[in-house]
Amino acid sequence: MSNRGSFSNKLGFILAAAGSAVGLGNIWSFPFEVGAGGGAAFLMVYLFFCFILCFPVMVTEIAIGRKTQLNPAGAYEALGFKKWRILGILGIISGVVILSFYNVVAGWAFGYFIELLSGHFEIGSQFSTFIKDVFKVGLYAMVFMFVTAFIVSKGVSGGIERASKILMPTLITMILGLVFYSLTLDHAFEGIKFYLVPDFSELTLSVMGNAMGQAFFSLSLGMGALITYGSYVGKNDNIVTSAAFITLADVGIAFIAGLMMFPMVAYLTNGTMEGAGQGAGLIFTVLPGAFESLGPLLGVVIGSLFFLLLSFAALTSTVSLLEVPVAYIVDEKGIKRRRAVWIMATIIFVLGIPSLLSNGYSGFFTSFITYVGAENATSFMDFAQNVANDTFLPLGGCLISIFAAYAWKTQNLNAEIALGYPNYMGSFIQKYLNFAVTILCPLVLGTMFLLTLLQTFFGVTLF
Ligand code: TRP
Repeated sequence: MSNRGSFSNKLGFILAAAGSAVGLGNIWSFPFEVGAGGGAAFLMVYLFFCFILCFPVMVTEIAIGRKTQLNPAGAYEALGFKKWRILGILGIISGVVILSFYNVVAGWAFGYFIELLSGHFEIGSQFSTFIKDVFKVGLYAMVFMFVTAFIVSKGVSGGIERASKILMPTLITMILGLVFYSLTLDHAFEGIKFYLVPDFSELTLSVMGNAMGQAFFSLSLGMGALITYGSYVGKNDNIVTSAAFITLADVGIAFIAGLMMFPMVAYLTNGTMEGAGQGAGLIFTVLPGAFESLGPLLGVVIGSLFFLLLSFAALTSTVSLLEVPVAYIVDEKGIKRRRAVWIMATIIFVLGIPSLLSNGYSGFFTSFITYVGAENATSFMDFAQNVANDTFLPLGGCLISIFAAYAWKTQNLNAEIALGYPNYMGSFIQKYLNFAVTILCPLVLGTMFLLTLLQTFFGVTLF
């Protein structure tokens, strides 16, 4: 095992895992999901999923990884359950799919950094033209994949850990500064009201399904990324407190990203909040205008810095996404790390091409699919995102809980957790985690999965 690498200490692991969690999910997709889900009602469900259901899944993933010191597919097998390997493989495939479109959006963020650096504030209103320009965006995305691969090829502590340690704190400081600024804007209050005062009539099954998918996506759960990161964690580390910190950091950053965004949306719409539900373009259309209002010099400095840091946040996430298939072929196929990295990065970049083309360039991919019963065609990228985030990740979470409770058994899970947490046995947290993995997660996640499947693919709405 010694040549697999490991994190140098608990802080290194926490920062890398928090770096994996915090990314475009928090700053790009969280605000638009909140906007599309009617605001605060979405937020409530989201918080419920993160703390009540996702947290136990996170602890379980890390415990499985640390116990086996292997990639997701190898991990289930090493615990003596060969048939469960398929769950690991499914997770690795989900990760590959996620990275393929995620890298395109990361390319947008990086491209916006370049645009704002040259003072091009109009890019906000030109978003749809920008994403259609596949050669430009493709180049940015290629650079992004290249840098990701470079960091992953440097190994666990030298690359992944070192990058996270610097980038995370800077990003948080920056967003907090922007929160203060946006609260001073006209109509800020209407934005905050939209974000924090719930209207429960907005709560439909699809909003709940999206909140669940967003929770898994944002916490990097359900596909084995944390099994993989867990495999580099020391035996004396306390998994429960690490997971708590990662969850709090991730939810906290998404929450303050909302505090930053919605006053800006309110400011730009004179308080009507129209367009808050516009979808994937939200931060890209709204933010440049807000930066412009800071004045030419400050606007360029703050605006370009923001998108640079967003790119960095995305980078610590793409690194974790690439690490999973890489660990798989290193462990299972005996390929050298460096080679594995470049092979995987190339394959995933190519798999991202349909997503790249699906934002207006190719008619076929742009209106790729019409769900049964849906009026509008969905682009390939949205389709990939719906399938991976809202369907496969929660399913993965559900199956991981079932695996831990009914195959591996809770006493083994508990024993692994207790290694770094002396008072764990008999504690409230132990009882809760056991209840969650045996009953709550399988039941709630399983039900939501079935309902979402019926609704998304067969147009059946039960409530
Ligand atoms: N959590 C990251 C974000 O919010 C994305 C991500 C990184 C991810 N690794 C993952 C999502 C593994 C699912 C699984 O941007």
